[in-house]
Amino acid sequence: KAAEEGIWNFSTYTEKEIFDIPQVIENVFSGRIDFESKTIKNETLQELQNHDIEKIEIIASGTSYYAWYIGSYYLKELWNIPTNITISSEFLSDTFFPDKKTLYVFLSQSWETADVRESLKIVKEHGCLTFGIVNVVGSTIARLTDMGLYSHAWVEIGVASTKNAIAQIAIILMMALALWQKRWLQHSISRGIIEEIPALWDKINKILLNTHKIEKIAKEYAGFKSLFYLGRNILYPTSGEASLKCKELSYIHSESYSAWELKHGPLALVGEDFPCIFLNTKSKFYHKTISNIQEVKARKGNILWVISEGDTEREYYTNIIEVPETSEYLSPFVILPAMYLFAYHISQELWREIDKPRNLAKSVTVE
Ligand code: M6R
Repeated sequence: KAAEEGIWNFSTYTEKEIFDIPQVIENVFSGRIDFESKTIKNETLQELQNHDIEKIEIIASGTSYYAWYIGSYYLKELWNIPTNITISSEFLSDTFFPDKKTLYVFLSQSWETADVRESLKIVKEHGCLTFGIVNVVGSTIARLTDMGLYSHAWVEIGVASTKNAIAQIAIILMMALALWQKRWLQHSISRGIIEEIPALWDKINKILLNTHKIEKIAKEYAGFKSLFYLGRNILYPTSGEASLKCKELSYIHSESYSAWELKHGPLALVGEDFPCIFLNTKSKFYHKTISNIQEVKARKGNILWVISEGDTEREYYTNIIEVPETSEYLSPFVILPAMYLFAYHISQELWREIDKPRNLAKSVTVE
């Protein structure tokens, strides 16, 4: 919206693509969700309900893998279906046990990723049911899957995937909501999420309009050699995606870890020169993560806390990035745009080639 109004002069495609996120989310949901009846209206997802599916296996790489990992919580918790996550190159090098009651979902924004394409071929050879989530209309591999959905994120020029990742997460959420309808029609959590979706546009716009606040904080972190991203449950893969974007755009070493696992080794790394970025907005694990934050604080660690707006438990941080409050299911939709801006501004500070980071290509077309 800001872009349409000409308020912003984007200096890179990546920046513009981050600012496209609210519009992309609207594209994914509009026409597919009936907000009045709080139901999903989509032929493909309705058709999917007619299949006898007992398990989901999703295969993807890079950001698509993290998008799927985040989405796996929707499928497990909303659809109540066992779900497994596999990196496409590992799928290719592992033993495959074909299962006719498993839905194999392939996530790729480009459909050019060789490992994903080869994995799909193997699954198809065994006659298993395949589903594709893809951004490029008419791509060969999109045609190879039995059914699928387009993410409608338009062209993404920046090598670092931003708006596309969000579109993919939105699609998985919609899948989980649609398939849930079949089992527990009008369940309150499902209806609650659908009710909350329209407010996302404004919430994300608010984060984008605060880009200068995030820039100020990012500048403080541009001088560190390593950054540690931590979260629990759905915020664990969210931290993985945030960390990947930081590596890719800024060339700063970053790692993501489950906050739960700190004491099993990585706590030894923590000190003043190794900042910990805690993704800890309101959720069922909020207080458990605060105990991890306290552990880091006790070791004089630098803490950047990504926190829900209005949160009052703020005594432990070095810096905070506030994001509007959402249910925990929707929290990646507000945290990731903030983390994309954070990585973006660090990279700007370091004069990186933001749209085309060194050594990387938009699509990895060879195995
Ligand atoms: O086109 P794909 O979604 O299959 O690409 C997978 C990864 O190569 C891609 O997500 C990569 O990790 C991004 N550059 C990350 O921003």
